[in-house]
Amino acid sequence: MTILIKNGTVVTAQGSTQADVLIDGERIAAVLAPGDTSLGANIEASADRVIDATGKYVVPGGIDGHTHMEMPFGGTVASDSFETGTRAAAWGGTTTIIDFAVQKQGERVQECLAAWHDKARGNCAIDYGFHQVVGGVDSESLKAMDELVDEGVTTFKLFMAYPGVFLSSDGQIMQAMQQASSNGSMIMMHAENGSAIDVLVAQALAEGKTDPKYHSLTRPWETEAEATNRAIMLARMTGAPLYIVHMSAKQAVEVLQKHKDEGWNVFGETCPQYLYLSLEEQLAQPGFEGAKWVCSTPLRSRAEGHQDELWRYLRTNDLSVISTDHCPFCFKEQKEMGVGDFSKIPNGIGSVEHRMDLIFQGVVDGKITVERWVELCSTTPARMFGLYGRKGAIAPGFDADVVIYDPAGRTEIGFHKTHHMNMDHSAWEGFVIDGHVDTVISRGSVVIDDNEYLGTKGHGQFLKRGLSQYLI
Ligand code: URP
Ligand code: ZN
Ligand code: ZN
Repeated sequence: MTILIKNGTVVTAQGSTQADVLIDGERIAAVLAPGDTSLGANIEASADRVIDATGKYVVPGGIDGHTHMEMPFGGTVASDSFETGTRAAAWGGTTTIIDFAVQKQGERVQECLAAWHDKARGNCAIDYGFHQVVGGVDSESLKAMDELVDEGVTTFKLFMAYPGVFLSSDGQIMQAMQQASSNGSMIMMHAENGSAIDVLVAQALAEGKTDPKYHSLTRPWETEAEATNRAIMLARMTGAPLYIVHMSAKQAVEVLQKHKDEGWNVFGETCPQYLYLSLEEQLAQPGFEGAKWVCSTPLRSRAEGHQDELWRYLRTNDLSVISTDHCPFCFKEQKEMGVGDFSKIPNGIGSVEHRMDLIFQGVVDGKITVERWVELCSTTPARMFGLYGRKGAIAPGFDADVVIYDPAGRTEIGFHKTHHMNMDHSAWEGFVIDGHVDTVISRGSVVIDDNEYLGTKGHGQFLKRGLSQYLI
């Protein structure tokens, strides 16, 4: 099957240019400037399908480097399966996810990873890879880290939060970082001071402060900035690179920036919820409504100006990746577990379907350029997580993961409008995007075409990842 995408504006992290894109089978065969006849004068006649992309952007498929499909968490299980979650991702122009396999204390890392393979295999609409959460750092799991690198799982997430569930001590973090430093892998850190948070949560509940907004008020920015600094200091001592996930506090990114400027190999990720949503407007809504937006790190105060600062840090590359941290829970029965006690609300927001659109709105609003949109949502994740060469660019030899995006289109996000995630509500209800995902191609197969899903369960393949390109 050959597809010719003609007359579009091809956007990569490097720049934008008028060009035709020829797809042959699962790969991009050529990117042809106007008038380029090197493949013959009339390739259009021999193509199986021709798509006219006049006035549209042709961009590499989105890579969401942070998702949690069907993850057991907070006494329940994230509501998207690999089937429903990857289908929703495809609707939104994301053609690769990297999900977190989870190991807890007392469990064998290899068995946990095998369980994640079993959940995903044969079920995904788009390609997928895994990071490994190591919740119990010990001699066996440290050894397993080396084996996983050989199996294409080259990133390991540790937690400084959730004592008794996932939290690693500083000593355990140090050991895991040393292991990463020796095998070339990268540590991803959930940087919040979990012990301090637990004290604040217990005190708030004792004072009768049970509403969802207290989730944020008991996780003040200091808990994120302190943990970020500690994590980076530990990384500096071990020489390991460090990637801090889901950053929301401007002060935490300021810490990261300082160490980056000193030349340390540290990277920051943020998510759409921290750029658009806030404590005041969402989490503090009356009654229990705010539970929809309970996630960690938490939504922060708009009055304190975190959201604008995060956009600025995206421009300066102090934040280098936008992922979703997609961790969906239904309101009924799942979020409702926390009625009368905010600490029992399962933590997570579902966004895998909307990231490309939401961040494109940042282009429309003049916050970032269209090339930076591609870089933050596709190219840097590919480089960061060892996928570049296959994913993250429109170039000959790369996988034909391509999105045709219409900047003159419109997308109204809403549960009854554009919602394919397995949730009973949308955290993005009422958001309107000045742009639209028209066509999505995953490894040469058209999966979304003009508001129709054409994908298939099982098309998505496991991606054995290499090492990050950002290691030194
Ligand atoms: O609230 C969140 N972020 N849920 C998912 C788990 C995590 O820490 O990433
Ligand atoms: Zn986390
Ligand atoms: Zn997460």
